[in-house]
Amino acid sequence: MKQRVLVKFSGEALSAENGFGIDTSILKFIAKEIKELVENDIEIGIVIGGGNIIRGVSAAKDGIIKRTSGDYMGMLATVINAVAMQEALEYMGLEVRVQSAIKMEQICETFIVRKAIRHLEKGRIVIFAAGTGNPFFTTDTAATLRAIEIKSSMIIKATKVDGVYDKDPNKYNDAKKLNTISYDDALKDNIKVMDDTSIALAKDNSLPIVVCNMFKEGNLLNIVKNSDFSSCSVVK
Ligand code: GTP
Repeated sequence: MKQRVLVKFSGEALSAENGFGIDTSILKFIAKEIKELVENDIEIGIVIGGGNIIRGVSAAKDGIIKRTSGDYMGMLATVINAVAMQEALEYMGLEVRVQSAIKMEQICETFIVRKAIRHLEKGRIVIFAAGTGNPFFTTDTAATLRAIEIKSSMIIKATKVDGVYDKDPNKYNDAKKLNTISYDDALKDNIKVMDDTSIALAKDNSLPIVVCNMFKEGNLLNIVKNSDFSSCSVVK
């Protein structure tokens, strides 16, 4: 059986310095990294956040927009990012299907786990959009859920940092990167790898969470193909 992984990108990662919108040169970089995985016979699911367009919590912060509506707006943002990523991956010659947790059949397929798995088996990349389809859940939780549903061997949280530190590396010179973290430690307040719902779901299903730097060329392939976790942090 081929190896299958789910990679989660934050929406902010797609934007240039100001944190807003979509930078096509970043899309192209990510697509190149993903292409290397596909060329090495690795099956790929992708989840992208929506924070570069809108965040539910922030949209609702002054009470004018209800939290539920803010979260639906955030889910729509993830569909925009998914369609953009689909284009970049196809530009690189890859086969891609977008599946949304909320039906929007003119834009993409609707999420059906059995169909997603068939796409993966045929070598297609599947991008899961619209989060879990429910308010109050993060895209990290959606990514963890999809990873479990498609029987991914790990979830890779591709970030701007190399991993998880014992304290903020931007503030403390002596901050140490943690190579391995238990689910229980990750659930403690001081280490915020993902939100508690995601970590609890990963723990219940023994799904390893790999936190790595997405901007380091070849990093994803090195982690998945060579099982080299030295450059990242693993919660397991
Ligand atoms: P196979 O079943 O393996 O042939 O997969 P396939 O995805 O190539 O076949 P299908 O006929 O289901 O899809 C053909 C194209 O239409 C693909 O690009 C799909 O992403 C797209 N597609 C399928 N269902 C929908 C849908 O409900 N909405 C939208 N917008 N596109 C869809």
